[in-house]
Amino acid sequence: MNLFDKKVDRTRSHCEKWDRYKNQDVIPMWVADMDFKSPQCIIDALQARVEHGVFGYTSVDDGTNQAVVDFLARHYNWKTDSNWIVWLPGVVPGMNIACRSVTTQDVIINTPIYPHFVNAPQNAKKNIIKVPLVEKNNRWTIDFEDFESKITSTCKLFMFCNPYNPGGTVFTKDELEKIASICIKYDLTICSDEIHADLILNPKAKHIPIASLNEEIAKRSITLLAPSKTFNIAGLQSSFAVIPDVHVRKNFKRELAGLSSEINLLAITATRVAYTSCDVWLEKLRVYLANNLKVIQDFISNEPKLKLLDQDATYLAWIDVSALKLDNPYEYFLSYGVGLSEGDRFGNENFVRLNFGTTKVLLEEGLKRIKIAIDNI
Ligand SMILES: Cc1ncc(COP(=O)(O)O)c(C=O)c1O
Repeated sequence: MNLFDKKVDRTRSHCEKWDRYKNQDVIPMWVADMDFKSPQCIIDALQARVEHGVFGYTSVDDGTNQAVVDFLARHYNWKTDSNWIVWLPGVVPGMNIACRSVTTQDVIINTPIYPHFVNAPQNAKKNIIKVPLVEKNNRWTIDFEDFESKITSTCKLFMFCNPYNPGGTVFTKDELEKIASICIKYDLTICSDEIHADLILNPKAKHIPIASLNEEIAKRSITLLAPSKTFNIAGLQSSFAVIPDVHVRKNFKRELAGLSSEINLLAITATRVAYTSCDVWLEKLRVYLANNLKVIQDFISNEPKLKLLDQDATYLAWIDVSALKLDNPYEYFLSYGVGLSEGDRFGNENFVRLNFGTTKVLLEEGLKRIKIAIDNI
């Protein structure tokens, strides 16, 4: 039996995803975590740490910092330095700190997008400039002319998402070079949320950290990363920013001062093991998720009123349901027992987002319900 075919009961485990529809016949396919157990070596390491029995004040050790540096070198050929790492309890706090730490009136983002790309600039009382993604060669990408034309003289920060949520685009080297050169030309800092970097499902696609392109872009970058999506440990709250430039890092740390004390001890334990001992597990996960994506693609190819562009990464499918002409797609599918993410939360009410980080069996049951829902329109 495939490791990821094993059903885990997530009820009564403080699980946001499943608790939302507690005691209802609804398959939860919304918030971005997976229904799989984390790698066994993470579980073992956590058990051993709990068994130790003393849970006092903690600091991140050199070995954990080195584990990050080595992981980024091994997977992305990105040479970093442990001094560049700023530990954070989440990528979302990192996004908020980034918006506060860069001197700017306006923040430029793409849309539709993960809601905190809108919330973070708002929380920091900045104006938002929106650049909608466009469909090109059956894939979501950036219209670079539109992007460049919208940059104002008071805009000094681009909040970038790569791989992209929702839509699963992995930006190519060519695209990243265009983005980097625009950021350099207009003196923008780039905060690059790369939380989904490890979840590349198409073997032909490759994640390139934008900061790894060249020194010019590196020194104006804040890259946000985490083992949370990759190893399904979001509840442990381990994330970090990689900030090569000493001044950008100083400003970031200044905004963070007093608000967060690195990460907690179970997060440290899990992170070190995740980044040193779980590559094989990760490879198997990617294969399983890629197969789930294929199941969805096959399903959608038989549903003329659904549309899904090609996606190279993430376990989140961004499905265009506009042809169904529903008043509220989320509510409609919910009434057939499927709890999807509401497209309007990301900025487009004609879409739903389906989380396929689950067993194939449950995914197929979800798709079966979606089919019945569509056939009943
Ligand atoms: C692009 C992106 N950034 C950040 C997050 C959340 O990060 P965290 O849980 O570390 O705050 C998510 C979760 O879905 C995400 O998709």
